[in-house]
Amino acid sequence: MKVINTIEETRSIISRWRSEGLSVGLVPTMGFLHDGHKSLISRAVKENDRVVVSIFVNPIQFGKNEDLSVYPKDMEKDFELCKSAGADFIFNPESEEMYYSDFSTFVDAGDVAKELCGKSRPVHFRGVCTVVTKLLNIVKPDRVYFGQKDAQQLAIVKRMVRDLSVDVEVIGCPIIREEDGLAKSSRNVYLSPDERKAAVILNKALSRGKELVDGGEKRSSKIIRAVSDIISTEKLARIDYVDVVSFPQIQHIETINCQALVAVAVYIGKTRLIDNFITE
Ligand code: PAF
Repeated sequence: MKVINTIEETRSIISRWRSEGLSVGLVPTMGFLHDGHKSLISRAVKENDRVVVSIFVNPIQFGKNEDLSVYPKDMEKDFELCKSAGADFIFNPESEEMYYSDFSTFVDAGDVAKELCGKSRPVHFRGVCTVVTKLLNIVKPDRVYFGQKDAQQLAIVKRMVRDLSVDVEVIGCPIIREEDGLAKSSRNVYLSPDERKAAVILNKALSRGKELVDGGEKRSSKIIRAVSDIISTEKLARIDYVDVVSFPQIQHIETINCQALVAVAVYIGKTRLIDNFITE
C-alpha cells in the first residue's frame, strides 16, 4: 500500500482503475485513525474493487480557537490500520496541495449546517463541505463513507451531494464504541485518566434519552431535560448543547413525529466530544 501526496498521481491511478472497469470507494479522514475508521474502511473494501483513504487535517474546518495546531497525528499507525483493513492507498496531501494561497471558493450547506455543531462552530461545515467536494472531485469515487457519530456531517454531505448533483453514493455507518460506551473519536486521546472516566456520561445520558423515546416520550423538552440532568451530575462535564432535531433536515423539533436525531456536544475538561442516537 502506498501513500500518495499529490492530486496528479491520485488522478492517474484512479483513471487507470477506471479504465480497468474497477469501482472505487473513498473514506475521508483527518487521520489518527481508530476502530471507527477501520469499520468504514472494511465496509468500503467489501463494497468496492479499490479503496482510497484520505488523511488530511483540513485547516478550513477549524475555527480560530479550535485544536488545529495540536490535532493528533500518527502516520505510521494510520498506515498499518489502512493496510490491515485492506485499503489500496492513502491520499495524504499537504495543505498547499489542496489550497492555493489565493483559494476563495467555498461550499455553503445553508440551514442544515446552522443548528447543533453549526451554532458553536460557525465555519466548520463550510470547511467540511468544501474539502469533501474537493476530495470527491479528485478521487471521483462510486461510494463515500462517513460515520454516524458525526450525524450532522453525514446529513449535510448527503444533502450537498443531492443538491449539487454529485455522482456518488454517500454511505453512513454505525457508531463504534469503547467497551464502556464512549464513542470512538480521535479526540479521546486528549482526555486525562479522570476525564476519560467522566466521558462515559455522554453515552449514559443518551441511553436514558433513548429509553424515554423507546417508552413513547415524544416531547423534546422532556428528553433534553433528562439527558442534560444526567450530564450535569458529572463535575468535569460542561454542556455545549443537548438537542432534538429532525433527521436528516437538522431542524429543532418540539415533538418527535418524524425521524429524529438526539445529539449532544459536551466539554470534558477542554475536550469537546459529541455523541447521538437516531430514532427509528
Ligand atoms: O469527519 C472528518 O474526519 C472530517 O470532517 C472530514 C469528513 C474528513 C473532512 O475533513
